[in-house]
Amino acid sequence: SRIKEVQFVKSSGRAKDCPKDERPEFAILGRSNVGKSSLINSLVRKKEIALTSKKPGKTQLINHFLVNKSWYLVDLPGYGFAKAPEAAKTDWSSFTKGYFLNRNTLVAVLLLIDASVPPQKIDLDCANWLGRNNIPITFVFTKCDKMKVAKGKRPDENIRDFQELIRQNYKQHPPWIMTSSVTGMGRDELLLHMSQLRNY
Ligand code: GTP
Ligand code: MG
Repeated sequence: SRIKEVQFVKSSGRAKDCPKDERPEFAILGRSNVGKSSLINSLVRKKEIALTSKKPGKTQLINHFLVNKSWYLVDLPGYGFAKAPEAAKTDWSSFTKGYFLNRNTLVAVLLLIDASVPPQKIDLDCANWLGRNNIPITFVFTKCDKMKVAKGKRPDENIRDFQELIRQNYKQHPPWIMTSSVTGMGRDELLLHMSQLRNY
Protein backbone atom coordinates (compact mmCIF):
# COMPACT_ATOMS: atom_id res chain seq x y z
CA SER A 1 0.00 0.00 0.00
CA ARG A 2 3.04 2.29 -0.17
CA ILE A 3 2.78 5.54 -2.13
CA LYS A 4 5.74 5.83 -4.46
CA GLU A 5 4.57 8.50 -6.81
CA VAL A 6 1.86 11.14 -7.04
CA GLN A 7 1.03 13.27 -10.03
CA PHE A 8 -1.42 16.14 -10.09
CA VAL A 9 -3.58 15.45 -13.14
CA LYS A 10 -6.16 18.20 -13.40
CA SER A 11 -8.67 20.50 -11.76
CA SER A 12 -12.22 20.23 -13.04
CA GLY A 13 -15.00 22.74 -12.62
CA ARG A 14 -17.70 20.25 -13.56
CA ALA A 15 -18.23 16.51 -13.09
CA LYS A 16 -18.14 15.90 -16.83
CA ASP A 17 -14.72 17.52 -17.13
CA CYS A 18 -13.10 14.92 -14.83
CA PRO A 19 -10.44 12.63 -16.37
CA LYS A 20 -11.93 9.94 -18.59
CA ASP A 21 -10.35 6.91 -17.03
CA GLU A 22 -11.01 3.39 -15.76
CA ARG A 23 -8.71 3.61 -12.77
CA PRO A 24 -10.35 3.51 -9.33
CA GLU A 25 -10.63 6.62 -7.21
CA PHE A 26 -11.33 7.82 -3.67
CA ALA A 27 -12.96 11.17 -3.07
CA ILE A 28 -12.01 13.23 -0.07
CA LEU A 29 -14.99 15.13 1.26
CA GLY A 30 -15.71 17.15 4.35
CA ARG A 31 -16.51 20.51 5.83
CA SER A 32 -14.37 23.40 4.86
CA ASN A 33 -11.27 23.47 7.07
CA VAL A 34 -11.73 19.86 8.29
CA GLY A 35 -8.25 19.02 6.97
CA LYS A 36 -8.86 17.46 3.53
CA SER A 37 -5.83 18.92 1.82
CA SER A 38 -3.66 18.28 4.88
CA LEU A 39 -4.71 14.63 4.87
CA ILE A 40 -3.77 14.25 1.21
CA ASN A 41 -0.40 15.87 1.88
CA SER A 42 0.14 13.57 4.86
CA LEU A 43 -0.84 10.46 2.89
CA VAL A 44 1.54 11.24 0.07
CA ARG A 45 4.20 12.71 2.39
CA LYS A 46 4.78 15.47 -0.05
CA LYS A 47 3.90 18.81 1.40
CA GLU A 48 1.84 21.28 -0.55
CA ILE A 49 0.82 18.97 -3.37
CA ALA A 50 -2.75 19.80 -2.41
CA LEU A 51 -3.02 23.45 -1.45
CA THR A 52 -3.71 23.98 2.22
CA SER A 53 -4.80 27.16 3.87
CA LYS A 54 -5.95 28.49 7.19
CA LYS A 55 -8.69 30.26 5.27
CA PRO A 56 -11.67 28.02 4.55
CA GLY A 57 -12.91 27.63 1.01
CA LYS A 58 -9.50 27.40 -0.64
CA THR A 59 -10.18 24.27 -2.71
CA GLN A 60 -12.87 25.25 -5.22
CA LEU A 61 -12.50 22.58 -7.88
CA ILE A 62 -12.44 18.79 -8.25
CA ASN A 63 -8.71 18.00 -8.14
CA HIS A 64 -7.46 14.63 -9.41
CA PHE A 65 -4.17 13.22 -8.11
CA LEU A 66 -2.89 9.99 -9.69
CA VAL A 67 -1.11 7.69 -7.23
CA ASN A 68 1.45 5.11 -8.39
CA LYS A 69 -0.04 5.48 -11.87
CA SER A 70 -2.82 3.17 -10.70
CA TRP A 71 -5.48 4.97 -8.64
CA TYR A 72 -6.72 8.48 -7.88
CA LEU A 73 -7.15 10.60 -4.81
CA VAL A 74 -9.69 13.35 -5.46
CA ASP A 75 -9.68 16.56 -3.44
CA LEU A 76 -13.13 18.17 -3.42
CA PRO A 77 -14.30 21.61 -2.33
CA GLY A 78 -15.26 21.79 1.32
CA TYR A 79 -18.93 22.12 2.18
CA GLY A 80 -20.53 24.29 4.83
CA PHE A 81 -18.37 27.32 4.20
CA ALA A 82 -20.52 29.74 6.19
CA LYS A 83 -19.20 32.87 4.49
CA ALA A 84 -19.79 31.69 0.92
CA PRO A 85 -22.56 33.57 -0.84
CA GLU A 86 -25.83 31.64 -1.08
CA ALA A 87 -25.43 31.28 -4.86
CA ALA A 88 -21.98 29.75 -4.53
CA LYS A 89 -23.27 27.21 -2.00
CA THR A 90 -25.96 26.04 -4.42
CA ASP A 91 -23.44 25.71 -7.25
CA TRP A 92 -21.21 23.69 -5.01
CA SER A 93 -23.81 21.13 -4.11
CA SER A 94 -25.14 20.64 -7.62
CA PHE A 95 -21.76 19.99 -9.17
CA THR A 96 -20.49 17.87 -6.31
CA LYS A 97 -23.67 15.80 -6.26
CA GLY A 98 -23.30 15.36 -10.00
CA TYR A 99 -19.84 13.98 -9.43
CA PHE A 100 -21.01 11.46 -6.80
CA LEU A 101 -23.96 10.22 -8.81
CA ASN A 102 -22.11 9.86 -12.12
CA ARG A 103 -18.58 8.80 -11.31
CA ASN A 104 -18.52 5.06 -12.00
CA THR A 105 -14.91 4.60 -10.93
CA LEU A 106 -15.57 6.00 -7.44
CA VAL A 107 -14.65 3.21 -4.98
CA ALA A 108 -15.53 5.10 -1.81
CA VAL A 109 -15.89 8.54 -0.33
CA LEU A 110 -13.55 9.31 2.53
CA LEU A 111 -15.84 11.52 4.59
CA LEU A 112 -13.69 13.61 6.89
CA ILE A 113 -15.11 14.51 10.27
CA ASP A 114 -13.39 16.92 12.64
CA ALA A 115 -12.97 14.98 15.90
CA SER A 116 -12.16 18.12 17.85
CA VAL A 117 -15.75 19.40 17.69
CA PRO A 118 -19.13 17.88 18.66
CA PRO A 119 -21.24 16.19 15.90
CA GLN A 120 -22.30 18.73 13.27
CA LYS A 121 -25.66 18.54 11.54
CA ILE A 122 -24.18 19.25 8.13
CA ASP A 123 -21.84 16.22 8.45
CA LEU A 124 -24.70 13.96 9.49
CA ASP A 125 -26.83 15.27 6.60
CA CYS A 126 -23.99 14.60 4.18
CA ALA A 127 -23.39 11.06 5.48
CA ASN A 128 -27.10 10.32 5.29
CA TRP A 129 -27.38 11.69 1.74
CA LEU A 130 -24.49 9.48 0.59
CA GLY A 131 -26.03 6.49 2.40
CA ARG A 132 -29.42 7.03 0.75
CA ASN A 133 -27.69 7.13 -2.63
CA ASN A 134 -25.77 3.92 -1.91
CA ILE A 135 -22.39 5.59 -2.17
CA PRO A 136 -19.89 3.71 0.02
CA ILE A 137 -18.22 5.84 2.66
CA THR A 138 -15.41 5.53 5.17
CA PHE A 139 -15.40 7.98 8.05
CA VAL A 140 -11.99 9.53 8.52
CA PHE A 141 -11.89 11.42 11.81
CA THR A 142 -9.34 14.24 11.59
CA LYS A 143 -7.44 16.33 14.15
CA CYS A 144 -7.37 13.44 16.64
CA ASP A 145 -4.14 14.91 17.99
CA LYS A 146 -6.14 17.73 19.58
CA MET A 147 -6.46 15.88 22.85
CA LYS A 148 -6.29 18.95 25.02
CA VAL A 149 -9.43 21.03 24.71
CA ALA A 150 -10.18 23.86 27.08
CA LYS A 151 -13.92 23.32 26.92
CA GLY A 152 -16.07 20.51 25.66
CA LYS A 153 -15.25 16.90 24.96
CA ARG A 154 -12.17 15.01 23.83
CA PRO A 155 -11.94 13.70 20.25
CA ASP A 156 -12.72 10.11 21.28
CA GLU A 157 -15.89 11.32 23.03
CA ASN A 158 -16.95 13.42 20.03
CA ILE A 159 -16.38 10.37 17.80
CA ARG A 160 -18.53 8.19 20.04
CA ASP A 161 -21.34 10.79 19.97
CA PHE A 162 -21.11 11.03 16.19
CA GLN A 163 -21.24 7.27 15.72
CA GLU A 164 -24.25 7.04 17.98
CA LEU A 165 -26.12 9.41 15.64
CA ILE A 166 -24.94 7.58 12.52
CA ARG A 167 -26.24 4.27 13.87
CA GLN A 168 -29.76 5.75 13.78
CA ASN A 169 -29.62 5.90 9.98
CA TYR A 170 -27.26 3.14 8.91
CA LYS A 171 -28.10 -0.54 9.36
CA GLN A 172 -24.39 -1.19 9.47
CA HIS A 173 -21.93 1.45 10.64
CA PRO A 174 -19.53 2.32 7.79
CA PRO A 175 -15.80 1.71 8.36
CA TRP A 176 -13.99 4.44 10.27
CA ILE A 177 -10.42 5.47 11.02
CA MET A 178 -8.93 7.98 13.47
CA THR A 179 -6.25 10.22 11.96
CA SER A 180 -4.03 13.19 12.52
CA SER A 181 -2.10 14.97 9.81
CA VAL A 182 0.13 16.39 12.52
CA THR A 183 1.28 13.11 14.10
CA GLY A 184 0.65 10.76 11.15
CA MET A 185 -1.80 8.74 13.24
CA GLY A 186 -4.01 6.48 11.08
CA ARG A 187 -2.02 7.10 7.93
CA ASP A 188 -0.88 3.50 7.36
CA GLU A 189 -4.26 2.14 8.42
CA LEU A 190 -6.01 4.35 5.88
CA LEU A 191 -3.61 3.39 3.08
CA LEU A 192 -4.13 -0.30 3.87
CA HIS A 193 -7.89 0.18 4.01
CA MET A 194 -7.90 1.82 0.56
CA SER A 195 -5.75 -0.93 -0.92
CA GLN A 196 -8.19 -3.53 0.44
CA LEU A 197 -11.13 -1.68 -1.12
CA ARG A 198 -9.28 -1.63 -4.46
CA ASN A 199 -8.56 -5.37 -4.13
CA TYR A 200 -4.81 -5.08 -4.43
P1 GTP B 1 -10.75 23.68 2.41
O1 GTP B 1 -9.89 23.36 1.24
O2 GTP B 1 -10.88 25.14 2.70
O3 GTP B 1 -12.08 23.03 2.34
O4 GTP B 1 -10.03 23.13 3.76
P2 GTP B 1 -9.38 21.69 3.99
O5 GTP B 1 -10.42 20.74 4.47
O6 GTP B 1 -8.58 21.27 2.82
O7 GTP B 1 -8.43 21.98 5.27
P3 GTP B 1 -6.84 22.16 5.32
O8 GTP B 1 -6.14 20.87 5.04
O9 GTP B 1 -6.47 23.33 4.50
O10 GTP B 1 -6.63 22.45 6.89
C1 GTP B 1 -7.33 23.48 7.58
C2 GTP B 1 -6.62 23.85 8.86
O11 GTP B 1 -6.65 22.76 9.82
C3 GTP B 1 -5.13 24.17 8.69
O12 GTP B 1 -4.80 25.22 9.54
C4 GTP B 1 -4.44 22.88 9.09
O13 GTP B 1 -3.13 23.10 9.56
C5 GTP B 1 -5.35 22.37 10.21
N1 GTP B 1 -5.29 20.87 10.32
C6 GTP B 1 -5.51 20.00 9.34
N2 GTP B 1 -5.38 18.71 9.76
C7 GTP B 1 -5.05 18.78 11.07
C8 GTP B 1 -4.78 17.78 12.08
O14 GTP B 1 -4.79 16.56 11.87
N3 GTP B 1 -4.49 18.25 13.33
C9 GTP B 1 -4.46 19.58 13.64
N4 GTP B 1 -4.17 19.92 14.88
N5 GTP B 1 -4.71 20.54 12.71
C10 GTP B 1 -4.99 20.16 11.44
MG1 MG C 1 -8.49 22.05 0.82
